[in-house]
Amino acid sequence: MTRVLLVGNGAREHAIAVALARAEVEIVAHMDKRNPGIASLAKEVNINTLMDPRKLPDLVGIDYAVIGPEGPLSVGVVDYLTSNGVECIGPHQNTARIETSKVLARRVLEKVAKDANPRFEIVRSIDKLRNFEKKIGIENMVVKPDGLTGGKGVKLFGDHFHDRESLVKYASSLIIDHGIVLLEERMKGTEFTVQAFCDGKALAPMPLVRDYKRAYDDDKGPNTGSMGSYSRADHGLQYVSDSDLSNALDIMQRTINGLKKQSAREYRGILYGQFIKTEKGIKVVEFNARFGDPEAMNVLSILSSSLDDVFQSMIDGNVVKPSFEDKATVCLYIVPEGYPGSDTIKDAPISFVSGIKSETYYASVYEKDGIIYTTGSRSIGLLAKGDSVSDAREAVYTDAEKVNGKIRYRNDIAKDVQ
Ligand code: GLY
Repeated sequence: MTRVLLVGNGAREHAIAVALARAEVEIVAHMDKRNPGIASLAKEVNINTLMDPRKLPDLVGIDYAVIGPEGPLSVGVVDYLTSNGVECIGPHQNTARIETSKVLARRVLEKVAKDANPRFEIVRSIDKLRNFEKKIGIENMVVKPDGLTGGKGVKLFGDHFHDRESLVKYASSLIIDHGIVLLEERMKGTEFTVQAFCDGKALAPMPLVRDYKRAYDDDKGPNTGSMGSYSRADHGLQYVSDSDLSNALDIMQRTINGLKKQSAREYRGILYGQFIKTEKGIKVVEFNARFGDPEAMNVLSILSSSLDDVFQSMIDGNVVKPSFEDKATVCLYIVPEGYPGSDTIKDAPISFVSGIKSETYYASVYEKDGIIYTTGSRSIGLLAKGDSVSDAREAVYTDAEKVNGKIRYRNDIAKDVQ
């Protein structure tokens, strides 16, 4: 039996575990907190930090490893594993920089697909900010740190800053901390996610997904990891044309080719492209070196190929084109009351009225004496499938009413989408 080391303990890794269990592999789970969903599917569970490869479990008998989150990729877990003879689904530390360095991502794009970049400036002193401000206006400015910030570091004028002084203060603090800051022109349009299995050379794309990052209905409030997402039965999105999609895939292909030139390493893993359809064409918001969360739930729940076969084909350098059910999906995140603020209700029990039909993916929760409790982050992803988005939406919202506790969720995920 194939034995797979799965690193990570969020809902994304729970979705990977469900798909791997469906493919009848034996899972060795390495988590920094026990995810009850993953633990129930794993043959062995190892609890330790994800950020130190030396804390991984015994590698004897492991056929390959799947690295779920960006944190372990950023500290070189893949470099460690491959140098110890374990093949990985996930890129090496230097190619994972396509996610972990927003500056590198813009520079690579500038070389391989210039038009996919917004206007931007890489700034090491505040004088440069003034020059960029003259070009685009302070009211259009986005400030991005050059490192992992769990989705919380990107700040926009109008949303996070209401005057020039606070924006300049934030940019200055990033220059002091990191020596560099990325400034971008705000892009207006509708976002879409393209995820692809990548074998180092070729990409095998998955169905498109739309996610909702803002905390409250009508896209109000601060950014979160995402509050929900949907995908359509035809695997496309109503506002993304065939030529938009082939343009997005071309940008992704050029990006992995460009990364290889730059780092002399092939990119093997999941490439996640967050795109935005603007009046000036398709632009890249960001790349991630992993599945999206919740987008992993949308695509893996309808994967009809064996995930083990897909991963093995990536390792063999000949990625297969996977099949997906012709089903729509809606994923709704249940989060603690107060999330994502400092008053997030932690350690509160969550219970389920019987009869939930949606797939239930545990995110940041813990189990004690058979009861599930909230932590400071997203709790549970509910995923429903249907013949149409509206069918799946109805099913997921019916089930959300059956979750009890000090929790909340957005009411407008996939609203008015057929
Ligand atoms: N859904 C956004 C992310 O995974 O980064």
